[in-house]
Order: sequence, then structure tokens, then C-alpha cells
Amino acid sequence: MTALLFKNARVIDPSQNLNRICAVLCKDGVIAQIGENIPRGNAVEIDASGLTLAPGLIDLHTHLRDPGFTDKEDIETGCAAASAGGVTTLCAMPNTKPACDTPETVQYILEKAKTAAARVLPVAAITKGLLGAELTDMSALKSAGACAFSDDGVPVHTAAQMKQTLELSARLNVPIFAHTEDRSLSEGGIVNACAISAELGVKGIPNAAEDVGTAREIALLMSAPQNARLHICHVSTAGSVALIRDAKARGLHITAETCPHYFIFTDGKIKTKDADYRMNPPLRSETDRQAVLQGVLDGTLDVIATDHAPHTVAEKADFYKAPNGVIGMETSFAASYTALVQSGLLSVSELICKMSSRPAQILGIDGGTLRVGARADLILIDENEVWTVDTEKLHGKSKNCVFKKCKLQSKVKLTVSAGEIVFDDRVKEK
Ligand code: DOR
Ligand code: ZN
Ligand code: ZN
Repeated sequence: MTALLFKNARVIDPSQNLNRICAVLCKDGVIAQIGENIPRGNAVEIDASGLTLAPGLIDLHTHLRDPGFTDKEDIETGCAAASAGGVTTLCAMPNTKPACDTPETVQYILEKAKTAAARVLPVAAITKGLLGAELTDMSALKSAGACAFSDDGVPVHTAAQMKQTLELSARLNVPIFAHTEDRSLSEGGIVNACAISAELGVKGIPNAAEDVGTAREIALLMSAPQNARLHICHVSTAGSVALIRDAKARGLHITAETCPHYFIFTDGKIKTKDADYRMNPPLRSETDRQAVLQGVLDGTLDVIATDHAPHTVAEKADFYKAPNGVIGMETSFAASYTALVQSGLLSVSELICKMSSRPAQILGIDGGTLRVGARADLILIDENEVWTVDTEKLHGKSKNCVFKKCKLQSKVKLTVSAGEIVFDDRVKEK
């Protein structure tokens, strides 16, 4: 493996409060040295003048569709999309076919990911087949390599099951990723319950469906063992944000994520009747968008993930019948940068913390840092480049992108995974 010496970059690493121009040497897949005057040796030198160097992004919430739905995406293409967006580690949700509910499927994913452009951490199912009936063998799944547990796509059916899951989380020391939704309130809904859903004559998904789900998980966490690890997925409502803020203020050990679309867009987008703006939870009201944004800014929402959920163009063709979900890994950094950093709400270091260092902490993995000895996962970003999202140029298989045609600021130029260059967009500039 060729060693890489990055020179003249602004190096930003929130995990060690670093923000200065210096050099970084990657050797044998790890960060070997960081500082000034690093001798080149036989490393390939990369002049990163004018660029920002940061730890690779970690996406806690993606759907790679492999095994079973590889017309939408597969491990290789999902990881290609990841690397193009600066994501070097991603958690792959278990709603595949078969569901990731056996050690064999965990192994299949890990094996296939060995040659992919990003590190894939399988999230295993809480209930067999995500059917809500019988719990999986979480201990065996963890031993096989599952990084977390979730029934994402659906909520864990009963409070009793979630109670048991939180006990196992504590015993096995693994995080639980909760898709919070009360299906008795959301059943049949395809967009946010609002004036527009009424106008379109479709059933809506009310805020209360998410709020009741989030409140249930928090109530269960209150009586769970101290070291249970509960993480709330894709927060979209003002109510959820308030519940999580209150839980944190009361000292509960809870973390949460949202996705760029929830603090950038509102349910106004569905007037277009374009199913690319449909996901679950759905785009909400302006009040919710503001609350989610505030949650990101004040730390109530620890992490920005994507819920990268590819569906084919054919599946997305019919607004009323299309499955929920939007892709996101290739646009998450630039969209978040544009909305949060360019607008002066967060520093780039704070953003990288939410997309890299903090997710690494939640998972308890090696990553999200440029400390000497850490895995050499890093990205070079041009903070000044402005680009327009062209879905034809994206690297995944699907095109269901909420940011299509959007003008975004900041571009990932180079991605290094375990010391290897896996994405390089610098050529155009030569
Ligand atoms: O929008 C969504 N897409 N929400 C989910 O809960 C599932 C996901 C998917 O798998 O497509
Ligand atoms: Zn979900
Ligand atoms: Zn999801």
C-alpha cells in the first residue's frame, strides 16, 4: 500500500480540537503522523492547498438493499455513492431480503464489503424478518459483526419487545437504532398530514405518530438498565425534538439523528406530486423544520445521517404508489454545509463533528478522528466549490434524490478509506 503525504491542507479534526494548516501522513492504512515538516520518504505527496482535510464521514443510517433488492442498490454501488459523498463508514439497515437477522447474512455483507469503497457495518434486525414476532439471537449477531440493532423501516411492534431489547442493549453493550412511529396513527399515510395531503386527497402521517413512538422509547429507557444505549433515528417533528431535549436534560443516556432533508425542506415540496420527495417520516411543516434545525444547533440531535434509501425510477414514477425513501450519501455533506455552515449557523468543525466524530462515539468504533494510529479514513473538501446536483452523475443505482437540481456549496474532492484512495474528483481541475 502506497503511503500518502497530504501537505498544505487546513486540517480539521473535532476529536482533538484541531484546526490548522499542517501535513498528514497515512501509512499502512493508519494515520502515521500529523504536523509540520514530515519527511516525504517514499510517500506519494498530495498538495492540498486551499482544501480542508477532515476525518471521513460516518453515516449511521443507510439502506444498501443487498441482499435481495439489488435493482435499487448493492453493496458495491452503495459504497461508491458513499465514497463520492465523503462517507468512509456506514451502517447498513437490515430490511433486506432476507432480512439481516442471522449471523450468515451479517457475514455475507461483511464479506462482500471487503472490496467496496467504504467500511460497511451491518445493523442486524431486532425481530426475525422484522416481523415483530420473535426476537433475533442478538448475542450471536453481535459476535458475527453486527454494530447495532434495529427494525428500521418499521417500529419495534410492542413496548414489551422494546423493553427486552433495551435490556439486551445493556447486556451486550450495543446501540439500538429506533425508528419511532406508532403505526396505528400512520397506517396508510403517504405524506405529512397537512392541508396539502387533504387537498391531494391522500391519507397523512401525523406528527403524533412519531411523537408517540419517541415518547414510548424514552419511557422505556427510564426504567432500562443504566447502560442501555438508545439512539432515535431520523427525527422529523418538533415534538420528538422536545422529548429528546427533555430526556437529555433529565440525564437519560439517549442520542439522536436527523437527516438534511428535515432541516432543509418542508411538506410544501409534495405539491409537485413528485414521489422523490416522499420518505418516512415525511417532510413536515415549517415549524417542524425550524425545531429540527434548532435541535441540530443546540446538540439535542447529535448526528446528521442520511437514511439513504434507494428506489428505482420505475418504482418512484407513481406519486401515490411509490415506496418511501430518498438517497442521500452523495449530497449530505454539501447540503448540510450549505444550510448550516455557509449560512453561519455552525462552524465546519462542528459539522464534521456531527457527521464523523459523534457517530464514531455512538458506535464506539475506531474512526471519526485523525489521531495517530487511527484508521486512515479521511476526506479532502473544497469548501468554495459550488455545484449543481445532477442525478445522472451520481454513483449509486437510484436517482430518488431530494436535492436534484439544487445548487450546493462545498464538494468532496478526495476520499481515502483505510489508507487507499477510493474517490478522486480532483482531475477536472487540472
Ligand atoms: O423512507 C423510508 N425508507 N423510510 C423507511 O422507514 C424505510 C426506508 C426504506 O427502506 O426505503
Ligand atoms: Zn426508519
Ligand atoms: Zn431507514
